[in-house]
Amino acid sequence: MTSNRISIIAPTYNEVANIVPFAERVKASLADFDWELLFVDDNSADGTARKAFEYGITEPRVRPIIRFVDRGLAKSSIQGMLSAKGDLLCVMDADGQHDPAVLIEMVERMERDGLDIVSAARRLEDDHALEGLSPIRRKLSQIGNALSSFVIGRKLADPLTGFFLIRRDRFLKLAPDLGDPGFKLLLDILYTDKTLRHGEVFFDFGTRLHGSSKLDSYVLWKFATFLMSKMTRGIVPAKLISFVFVGGSGVFVHFAVLYSVLAVSASFAVSQTIATLIATTSNFLLNNLLTFQDRRLHGVRLLSGYFKFLAVSAVGIVANVSAATLAYENLIHVVFIATLAGIAIDTVWKFVIANRFIWK
Ligand code: GDD
Ligand code: MN
Repeated sequence: MTSNRISIIAPTYNEVANIVPFAERVKASLADFDWELLFVDDNSADGTARKAFEYGITEPRVRPIIRFVDRGLAKSSIQGMLSAKGDLLCVMDADGQHDPAVLIEMVERMERDGLDIVSAARRLEDDHALEGLSPIRRKLSQIGNALSSFVIGRKLADPLTGFFLIRRDRFLKLAPDLGDPGFKLLLDILYTDKTLRHGEVFFDFGTRLHGSSKLDSYVLWKFATFLMSKMTRGIVPAKLISFVFVGGSGVFVHFAVLYSVLAVSASFAVSQTIATLIATTSNFLLNNLLTFQDRRLHGVRLLSGYFKFLAVSAVGIVANVSAATLAYENLIHVVFIATLAGIAIDTVWKFVIANRFIWK
C-alpha cells in the first residue's frame, strides 16, 4: 500500500469497445490505491473519447483528454503525463493486453528499491506468456530489443514494452528533451536521462479484448530510423535518415527503368528522362508514406507537393552535377568520391526544402 497517488495514462485510438472493460479492471485492481485514469484519445472516429467522457460522469477519477492534431502513441502519452496529477505516472495500453494488477507489483518494486522508473517486461522467450504476439512480431521484438539495449547502453529484458511507471518529478525534468519516438516512449526516456534508477518486473502480455493493433509498417519504419538517429547521437535526424534510404531506393528504380527503356531501343536522352521522372515520382510517394508520414499530403496538396518536388529535384540535378564537377576539378580527382559529394549535397538540399516547404 502506498501513499502516493497514481495516474494511469492510457493512449487510445479507436478503442471504443475497450474503454469500459479497461476502466472496470483498473477500478477492481487498484481498489486500495488513490488513482486517476486518463484516456488520451487522438480524436478517434469511433467515439472512444465520448465513451470515456460518459464513463467519467459516474466515475470522476476517469476522464478523457482529446487531441486533434499530430497523432501518435508517444506524443499522446507525453501529453497525458504532463496533464496528470499523480506522484507516480503509469503509461499502459487500453486494449486489455496490459493487466492493471501488475501495477501493484511495479509500485512495490519502485518503493522497495528506491527506483525512479519500473517497466513491465513481456516474457519474450516464453511461448505461453505471449499469447498476444504473433511469431513474426515476437522475432521483431527480440531483434528490436537487442538493438535498443545497445543504443541506450543498458541491458533490459524488454526496452520496447509500452507498460511502465515513472516518478512524476523525474519525468517533468527530462520531458523537454524527449524526441518523437513513435511507439517507443520508454526507450527514449531511458536514453534521455541516463541517471534514472530503473528496474523491471515480468508480466504476461495478454490478448486484445476488442479491435485491432495500430502498429503498422510505418510505425516500424519510424522506429528503425529513430534507432539509427540515436546511434549518431541524434546528430543526423531520423527524417533525414529515412529520406536518404528513400533516395537510395530511387537510384535502383532509376537504373531499372533506364535499362528497360534502353532495351526497347529508345535514345539515351529519352531513357534518362523517363528514368529520372519515374525515380523522382517513386521518391516523392515513398517520402510521403514513410519519411513524412506524420504530415502526409492528400488530394490537391499531394498534387501541388508533387510539382514542387519535381522542381526541387530539377534544381537538385544541377546542384548535384555542379558540386560533383567542382569537387572533381578542385579537390579530389576521383570520379566516385566526387560523385558521392554531389549526391550528398543534392540530398541535403532536397531534404531541407522538402522538410520546410513541401511537407511543412
Ligand atoms: N492516442 C493514440 N494515438 N493512441 C494510440 C495510437 C495513436 O496514434 N496508436 C495506438 N494507440 C493506442 C491503442 O489504442 C492502444 O491502447 C495502445 O496505444 C497500444 O496500441 P496497439 O495498437 O494495441 O499496439 P500493439 O499492441 O501492437 O503494441 C504494443 O506492444 C508493443 C510492444 O510490442 C504496445 O504496448 C506498444 O507500446 C509496445 O511497444
Ligand atoms: Mn495492443
